[in-house]
Amino acid sequence: MCGIVAYLGNKEAYPIILEGLKRLEYRGYDSAGVALLSDKITILKKKGKVSELEKYAQKSNQDLSQTAGMGHTRWATHGVPNDTNAHPHKSGGSSLAIVHNGIIENYAPIKEALIELGHTFTSDTDTEVLIHFIEEIKNKEDLSLEEAIRIALTKIIGAYAIVVIDKNEPDKIVGARFSSPLVFGIGEDEFFLASDASPIIKFTNKVIYLEDGEVITINRSGSYEIRNSNNEIQNPRVSELDLKIDEIEKGGYPHYMLKEIFQQPTTISESMGGRVNAHEGWAMLGGMKQHINRIGQCERIILTACGTSWHAAMIAEYLFEDLARIPTEVEYASEFRYRNPIIRESDFIVALSQSGETADTLAAIKMAKKKGAFLYGIVNVIGSSIARETDSGSYIHAGPEIGVASTKAFTSQVTVLALMALHLARHKGTLSEDYYRKLLASLESVPSKVARILANDDKIKYIASEIKNASNALYLGRGYNFPVALEGALKLKEISYIHAEGYPAAEMKHGPIALIDIYMPVVVIATNKSAYEKIVSNIQEVKARNGVVIAVVTEGDEIIKDLADYIIEIPEIEEPLTPLLSVIPLQQLAYHIAVMRGCDVDQPRNLAKSVTVE
Ligand code: G6P
Repeated sequence: MCGIVAYLGNKEAYPIILEGLKRLEYRGYDSAGVALLSDKITILKKKGKVSELEKYAQKSNQDLSQTAGMGHTRWATHGVPNDTNAHPHKSGGSSLAIVHNGIIENYAPIKEALIELGHTFTSDTDTEVLIHFIEEIKNKEDLSLEEAIRIALTKIIGAYAIVVIDKNEPDKIVGARFSSPLVFGIGEDEFFLASDASPIIKFTNKVIYLEDGEVITINRSGSYEIRNSNNEIQNPRVSELDLKIDEIEKGGYPHYMLKEIFQQPTTISESMGGRVNAHEGWAMLGGMKQHINRIGQCERIILTACGTSWHAAMIAEYLFEDLARIPTEVEYASEFRYRNPIIRESDFIVALSQSGETADTLAAIKMAKKKGAFLYGIVNVIGSSIARETDSGSYIHAGPEIGVASTKAFTSQVTVLALMALHLARHKGTLSEDYYRKLLASLESVPSKVARILANDDKIKYIASEIKNASNALYLGRGYNFPVALEGALKLKEISYIHAEGYPAAEMKHGPIALIDIYMPVVVIATNKSAYEKIVSNIQEVKARNGVVIAVVTEGDEIIKDLADYIIEIPEIEEPLTPLLSVIPLQQLAYHIAVMRGCDVDQPRNLAKSVTVE
């Protein structure tokens, strides 16, 4: 949550920071601000999106020509979203300014102590407390900025990525991180700091991903220094970014979400690339192969994740138990972490995360690591914290996902999870050769089948127009399609603000059936071969109460066609892989409904894509 970007070089900093903030806006959009550094610090900040800041800056008549500065786009934690709580924040003496992503848990006692020392605060934020604290330490001991920051951070509990500037040292910028990401970009005579690489890629592909506890000092002279929390100089590990600028543009689509939905034939292929060959009869993941003896002997798999990634994990529970016959549990990362779970060394823990930075998931795996379990990460963002914290893993290779509601990352996660299940099943000998090969061929057929579903977009748009005014919606599915029902409901509520619930179809009669009336659209995923008759009965139960049924069925289905109000056909596929197809029309439906309701599809209210607070 929150995006930060900083620049030090010989170009004007403001346009670079503004463009960077627009790229980072997916991390929060409650307010935005910049601080420009010369022998004074000029701060401009505004409630709302980066575009509001831009308008405000245009009218401000301020000098924006400085060549150093930093910016922030906020997802509010402490203090309501307003101009005062917007970052950057200044220190009491106004010589320092800070931008911060994360949360300072022990800010209250520090604030109290600072108030006793005579500090006064203008905002409700924990961040303002931190910059006063840094200033206090700096002045009391007459320390350099970086040393004061390092000492202050040893006394801080929480998560942070920060950038700090000092008007008395205008040729220097200092950054630090703990549990929130910070990337350092090294350009030609210019340096960057940012929450992810997207503001940097236009200028350089050379980056260093800072580690927890590290403090970086960058100087206009072209030098930089990284120290750990023990004040030891670190050897920089320069990585090359494999990211192209068009991957982070809308590419002609009106929204990132639509682009990402339509990218899925390609992204699912990318997730499979070099990992499956139906003709030769194999599927494998490099990260699994290396450790297959340990993983293959595990007594239990525990998957942990949040949000959409948690729904992908639920599909894995079906895949791992069904295909590889390994007992599997799925845990919300936040609950897992705090409920004193039983974790054994023989457990195989799989963390799923698009961003690789979700604070709850990160904390959950750190806890599992302490208990000796083997950790595997399934992550999209290369070099992210979860990727680095796990013992092994597989990237999903979906490319940058910018729409806040996850779409292509979900199908890529499920693709990689299916590959894992097949790899494990082969290792354990739990599938017949014939069925194994059928599944491989089925998996390879997914991208073209997804393309066929997407070609039907006009029909889904029409159904969206018919149900767009609903206040509530119910999504039903069974077996492999139960997590898809949860995901379909989540997509709708996230971006259209229609209240929606996902349910196992058979559970409908234990509660949700009471809600059904002529105003209630009920989306039923009715493709399962194994429970087809049962699903048909569920549809009849909805119709008997005058509910509006939108059924996702297998091509050629004649029975449900006669029962449902609207039919969405998807191609036939082996049942364990159905979620990869059945979720697509649900993404399209949510998208079109949200657009028709005039919602901000890419940046829905109150949400953020990368949730780096617990
Ligand atoms: C946020 C996003 C969701 C995402 C969830 C988990 O809530 O809005 O789209 O599914 O975080 O994120 P992760 O990056 O760990 O998959």
